[in-house]
Amino acid sequence: MKVAVIGGNGQLGRDVASAFADEGHVVTSLTHQEVEVSSLASVHEALGVLSPELVVNTSAFHHVEKCEADPALAFAVNGIGAHNLAQVTQETGATLIHISTDYVFDGRKNAPYTEEDAPAPLNVYGNTKLSGELFVRSTNPRHFVVRTSAIYGESPCRAKGGLNFVELMLKLSKERNELRVVDDEFVSPTPTELIARQLVGLSRSSEYGLYHATSEGSCSWFEFAAAIFELTNTRIRLEPARPGEFPAKVSRPKYSVLENRALKSKALNVFTHWKQGLENYLARREHPARLIPA
Ligand SMILES: NC(=O)c1ccc[n+]([C@@H]2O[C@H](COP(=O)([O-])OP(=O)(O)OC[C@H]3O[C@@H](n4cnc5c(N)ncnc54)[C@H](OP(=O)(O)O)[C@@H]3O)[C@@H](O)[C@H]2O)c1
Repeated sequence: MKVAVIGGNGQLGRDVASAFADEGHVVTSLTHQEVEVSSLASVHEALGVLSPELVVNTSAFHHVEKCEADPALAFAVNGIGAHNLAQVTQETGATLIHISTDYVFDGRKNAPYTEEDAPAPLNVYGNTKLSGELFVRSTNPRHFVVRTSAIYGESPCRAKGGLNFVELMLKLSKERNELRVVDDEFVSPTPTELIARQLVGLSRSSEYGLYHATSEGSCSWFEFAAAIFELTNTRIRLEPARPGEFPAKVSRPKYSVLENRALKSKALNVFTHWKQGLENYLARREHPARLIPA
């Protein structure tokens, strides 16, 4: 298959491109310099040249505070951008995999969200990502809309200044004796490598639709940090943040755990428990040679 990855040099995009290439597909990674998703002309031009059978959209304007400050730009990228990709892939008969987020939910359910639950975003980022989902679902019937959560991978997240949460905790542990981390926001930390593998699996099926795709289980950011330090034998005093210690500038869901119900019902789920995913990430980080096939 000819595959185009939008946001190809991003944290998730790089792993997605590698995963499809490893399966023998002909992959083209498109960076922001090569395609501007908010411009229909740019999307037409970039995809017209390639004529891919599958497009994977990992691009987004997803810095939550910046989205809140510039809703028009957030909608242009996350909403109109998704529409442009859906329109062009629909016209050319290509399949579109579109990445979305747990932030389409408000967190008030306090139990894992399934694909059946009604979204109710709390902020501009979540609203614009939800608009992108709806545009894709109503424009190209050959779509997979894939919501994920709290992602981390070997490539840096471009929107968040380079360091994922694991790397940030390990860096801070070298600079400080004590760390305080919020203990009242619950997520399912999900490695990009597994999301990429999941997308390859989905692309083999024609079970189009909406999917939740996150690690099994859930934890607070404090619990995630504790696991990082435990698994790396890092000595540091870790405390839960005091209530109000890190006031959020933008409303965020306190509980955005997703259940991969649709993947499981179709026997497609590849995800492991979040702690297993973390162990694998740390092992690869420690011994990168293991990545080289024998
Ligand atoms: N990070 C998380 O915890 C998280 C959680 C849930 C869902 N998600 C979703 O996961 C996806 C991937 O996130 P990520 O962490 O891999 O992000 P990332 O590292 O910031 O990568 C995003 C990529 O999109 C590109 N891009 C941004 N605006 C664009 C535009 N207007 N046109 C074309 N390309 C554009 C960026 O290029 P430049 O940097 O050059 O602009 C970058 O290559 C996003 O859809 C995000 O909403 C992320």
